[in-house]
Amino acid sequence: MGAYAIPEGRGALVEYHARSKHRLNRYAAGPGRLDWANQPNPFREFAGAPRFALAFDADALLVRYNEVRRGALPPARPLSRETLSTLLELSLALSAWKESGSARWALRCNPSSGNLHPTEGYIACPSLGGLPAGVYHYLSRDHVLEQRAKIVEREWSEAFHGSGVFAGLSTIHWREAWKYGMRAWRYCQHDAGHAIAAIAYAAAAMGWATRMADGYSDEDIAAILGLDRLEDFHGAEGETPDVLLWVGEPSSMPAPQPLVAAAHGGEWQGRANRLSERHVEWHDIDAVHLATLKPRTYPESIPRPARPALGADPRLDLPFATIARRRRSAVDFDGFTRMAADAFHTMLEPLMPSSDAPPWNALAAPARVHPLVMVHRVEDYEPGLYILLRDGAARAPLERSMGREWLWERRGPASLPLYFLLPYDLRDVAQLICCHQHIASDACFAMGMLAHFGDALDEPWRYRALFRECGMLGQVLYLEAEAAGLRATGVGCYFDDEMHHLAGLKDDAWQSLYHFTVGAPVEDGRLLTRPPYAR
Ligand SMILES: Cc1cc2nc3c(=O)[nH]c(=O)nc-3n(C[C@H](O)[C@H](O)[C@H](O)COP(=O)(O)O)c2cc1C
Repeated sequence: MGAYAIPEGRGALVEYHARSKHRLNRYAAGPGRLDWANQPNPFREFAGAPRFALAFDADALLVRYNEVRRGALPPARPLSRETLSTLLELSLALSAWKESGSARWALRCNPSSGNLHPTEGYIACPSLGGLPAGVYHYLSRDHVLEQRAKIVEREWSEAFHGSGVFAGLSTIHWREAWKYGMRAWRYCQHDAGHAIAAIAYAAAAMGWATRMADGYSDEDIAAILGLDRLEDFHGAEGETPDVLLWVGEPSSMPAPQPLVAAAHGGEWQGRANRLSERHVEWHDIDAVHLATLKPRTYPESIPRPARPALGADPRLDLPFATIARRRRSAVDFDGFTRMAADAFHTMLEPLMPSSDAPPWNALAAPARVHPLVMVHRVEDYEPGLYILLRDGAARAPLERSMGREWLWERRGPASLPLYFLLPYDLRDVAQLICCHQHIASDACFAMGMLAHFGDALDEPWRYRALFRECGMLGQVLYLEAEAAGLRATGVGCYFDDEMHHLAGLKDDAWQSLYHFTVGAPVEDGRLLTRPPYAR
């Protein structure tokens, strides 16, 4: 396995990052107006691929959110078609249908910018109870697996060692670009991060550890999931590989070579459907995609500093299945609810990396993203700017880049590396930064996510990983807010450099790659909610 050497895509990456920024006087290039007649179909399906119906058993899963969030996993369930059904039902499945007048749209356990859902899910597994060895595409609309490939049982099962399965993710950029133009590529990466976290949580609820196959190249993932089979995507939008997540015993994750070889020898079936009649080419997206292709690398394995396990919080003692399916984005916050300080701490604690608790058990890499929190309404907290340092080693480089005389005063419990930087009422500033959206000022707190952009310049594929890490942080906040009786919303629309000015950043070494808001939601009573599946 060769170590990665020349970061060829650096120029294209820097250019994309600058050009995809929203600026106060100019938004990043978008389609201008929405071509509704050409709206992409949110559901990919493979005509001709045999379907395997999945069970609806998630209601029977009694595991509590309180246990899952702190990594106190139940005994591992055997891997089978039934248990994979539950994994998918609580991660990538539909969670409800919404109706307003004649409009009807599905929501899913995993969120997506503009509800456009560019992320596709796959399972690659050896022969399990009720599921032959193969590669399967997950069609969330029907909660079925489409068998993309039958693989020679012996080769495949040997490679898997019988100790786990791969959940795979891919992206269809066009779904998101249809609405958001060139900035859409960023949202696609966030969405993948949310989906990774959604899978890691649901796996934990089944007693399974999850670990990202971070040594695999994009080419490996494409081969294993069949994304490189141009003949199966003829006339349809292609899918780019994101990640493979090993669900099972982390130390027995297979190496890529035997899986790639077995996949190439598989019997592939199914033709991808076309999602839109017409397409607009977004060359910036193609360029950044090419610039950030991932080669094979040495898997990362950084020992994490020991952290005390999260305590059991009786307020969060709800079934995991309820929280996973009830997760929603707030469309409005009430603008007056104040969060209790201990609820604030409880919500920030699981943002810290952990070796055992989801979703961070899926990542062996060090934390490279740090929440910059604009506190508006938290009891005992002075309004102002705070930073949660997810890796203490980041403090010195951050201080050098931020350059100002920030206070850097510790706040909150000793277990939480939360620092107070600046006392100020930031409600108007937060709203301005978040493209004038009220959710940023009416929330209890809003946050930016400062990522070490310098890492991406050295190894361009890390640019994608940074956005995904942001998405994973976002998924933690979504579930935590829901469990606490509040609600969160991801914010992809923000003026990048306004946030950097607020943080006093003097250079590009750190960039805010995602924003989030948490508060007391105001429901939109005009919408009807229907069950996700007619059963
Ligand atoms: C990457 C990302 C960016 C988002 N950006 C915004 C935003 O700027 N403003 C907003 O109101 N909602 C935003 N959302 C929320 C989505 O609109 C929401 O997830 C989607 O409509 C699906 O609804 P649900 O989250 O309730 O399932 C974002 C979500 C994601 C995942």
